[in-house]
Amino acid sequence: MKLRFVTPGGTVIDTSGTPGDSLLRAGQGAGLPLEGTCEGQMACSTCHVLVANEWFERLPPASEAEEDMLDLAAGARRTSRLACQIELTETLDGLTVTIPSTAHDMRTR
Ligand code: FES
Repeated sequence: MKLRFVTPGGTVIDTSGTPGDSLLRAGQGAGLPLEGTCEGQMACSTCHVLVANEWFERLPPASEAEEDMLDLAAGARRTSRLACQIELTETLDGLTVTIPSTAHDMRTR
């Protein structure tokens, strides 16, 4: 299945993912700057992505715990999600997300 990531600098990167994997893993596999420090434990928000409007409504809604974590994410918007909480399924073929420029990367601090 196809996935499209837009980097903070605006570069479009088309890649592919495997259903059952998380969006975080797929993005990391493609070499994208998604930190995912807590590895999907919903404790870091460094996997924060902005989902394209047309895709946001098609995702299963965020859990309360995810919403709480997104409240803490830098640069969060209405279509923000945690990439580690998005499980890839065939119906998400073509999913497009942007990596926010405010996502902090520990390596650059
Ligand atoms: Fe930490 Fe997603 S990897 S919240």
